[in-house]
Amino acid sequence: MCGIVGYVGSKSACDVLLGGLKRLEYRGYDSAGIAVVESGQLGILKDKGKVRDLEQTVYATWDETFRRRVGLGIAHTRWATHGSPTAANAHPHTDQSGRLAMVHNGIIENYAALKQQLAAKGHRFLSQTDSEVLIHLIGEFYQGNLCEAVCAALKHVEGTYGIAVVSADAPEAIVVARKGSPLVIGLGENETIVASDVSAIIAHTRQVIYLDDDDVAIITRAGAEVRNAHNVPVSRAVANVDWDAGAAEKGGYEHFMLKEIFEQPDALQNSLRGRLDPAMGTAILSGLALSPRELAGIRRIVIVGCGTSLHAGMVGKYYFEELAGMPTEVEQAAEYRYRNPIIQPEDMVVAISQSGETADTLAAVREAKQKGALVVGLCNVVGSTIARETGRGIYLHAGPEIGVASTKAFTCQLAVLLMMALKLGRCRRLSRQTGIEIGDEIRTIPDLVKRVLAGNDEIVRVAQQYATARDFFFLGRGCMYPVAMEGALKLKEISYIHAEGYHAAELKHGPIALLDDQVPVLAMLNDIAGRDKMVSNVQECRARHAPTIGVVTEGDTDVVQNVDEIIRIPRCSHLTAPIPTAVALQLFSYHVARIRNCPIDQPRNLAKSVTVE
Ligand code: F6R
Repeated sequence: MCGIVGYVGSKSACDVLLGGLKRLEYRGYDSAGIAVVESGQLGILKDKGKVRDLEQTVYATWDETFRRRVGLGIAHTRWATHGSPTAANAHPHTDQSGRLAMVHNGIIENYAALKQQLAAKGHRFLSQTDSEVLIHLIGEFYQGNLCEAVCAALKHVEGTYGIAVVSADAPEAIVVARKGSPLVIGLGENETIVASDVSAIIAHTRQVIYLDDDDVAIITRAGAEVRNAHNVPVSRAVANVDWDAGAAEKGGYEHFMLKEIFEQPDALQNSLRGRLDPAMGTAILSGLALSPRELAGIRRIVIVGCGTSLHAGMVGKYYFEELAGMPTEVEQAAEYRYRNPIIQPEDMVVAISQSGETADTLAAVREAKQKGALVVGLCNVVGSTIARETGRGIYLHAGPEIGVASTKAFTCQLAVLLMMALKLGRCRRLSRQTGIEIGDEIRTIPDLVKRVLAGNDEIVRVAQQYATARDFFFLGRGCMYPVAMEGALKLKEISYIHAEGYHAAELKHGPIALLDDQVPVLAMLNDIAGRDKMVSNVQECRARHAPTIGVVTEGDTDVVQNVDEIIRIPRCSHLTAPIPTAVALQLFSYHVARIRNCPIDQPRNLAKSVTVE
């Protein structure tokens, strides 16, 4: 979604801001803009299009002496919500006086009413955005103290925001504020940088402050002064980011998605590191901060998430029920938050989110906490809002995931869920011996994934056969059903082929009507329980002339004759099989999208972190 960068310091603000925006490009956007303060004037350039277009405009408009001199500014990439992508709707926006400028992430829900009130006072608006209304409101309260004006205006605002505001009269400070939309402040040597995402900061410093909701901060080159919504100073811890700028670069791969697919053996190794206890046959998950006795007292698990994280949760249900004998429900986070869910004192709510910022998942966390549930976060981004608000949880340690399509986060989510289920199982009904055996299986996961990656060329060949398809079905049963859904999601989001993930048994209750020789079916025929029923379902598809691709277990020769093409995955247990299978489906989708020449890392209409409802 939208990206914010702000800079004040001794370097050229233009260079730092443009560099920061490039780091945020992966989030998905349609317009870009920049505002700088120099010699008591605001300079603003913005338009629809890419950051490189903005860069060209900056270089064509501001000469080198000017660009070098400018030490303060704010910049933005916009993902349209209110008003289509145009120069007028792009950020930064200015107030009525034209002396204040602001960039905004989030949605001002009561903007229409505020706009009417301001218009009645003579304000004239240049855009269709909710954001412009907010800077006009700040301007209405401005009497020389920017922070006071921001605090006063925000009291009238309903909705979500991460904002950075500058004034032509204050060339030494940026005022920022957040509610429901993340902001991180990086503290450098004689410079301070603020951004909506830490990846725009790490090239400059790894010392960061994560702002909380309702925080307001005054940023100068000396650092940041954080205040609460009433303009009273509060203290916020300084954290150290443990990955460097190189981790957020493509490293020779054509796309971030491909790099992240191939990083999975290492990412999974990092997820597992130090977390399996071979002596006790359990997992060590200190972030859960719960004793075996407390874990044994949990009666039900409710998993919430969106998209790929939701699919991970659906696989997790099989793990928790099988290993821990624990009733488990999985809910789309938006559904959960608006449904007045019933929460019992012995429930544990597990919120799964790669970014830790997804608006619906965050709201579900807040609802569950409000109702007294024990809430645990499974996040990848360290210091993210969900990670902080849950207060207890397990980090994935997958490293930064830049490609919009989630890959390594998904497989690490599965690995972490499996370890959680093992731990809960050992607190309840699993014997030490069984725990040791499951731990041994979990340890093989990185190697299983390596073997799938070694078969990349074969998957390219299969992808070539089907890259022109218009529709696709992905079928699975048991824990492979959510894997099929995830496979279909990957294909549709990056290749724009209509794909449906279906339970194989459900096909004949309707969707089978769609099958013909133009609709390929990709079936999870792994050699695990339910395989024979899957084979029958595939026969039903073939009888309707659908081309069929089977994900099959290496060495399972019986099944091969039942499909037109095969994708092999190594032999492994049903518990670990979802992980190598998901990797094979990621590669398949990636290659189909590449053959179709799709913008894989930034698919149309999508954003990496969905911070609006
Ligand atoms: C799909 C994808 C999305 C995310 C979803 C939730 O490839 O990435 O479906 O999984 O937006 O995001 P997080 O996990 O950050 O909460």
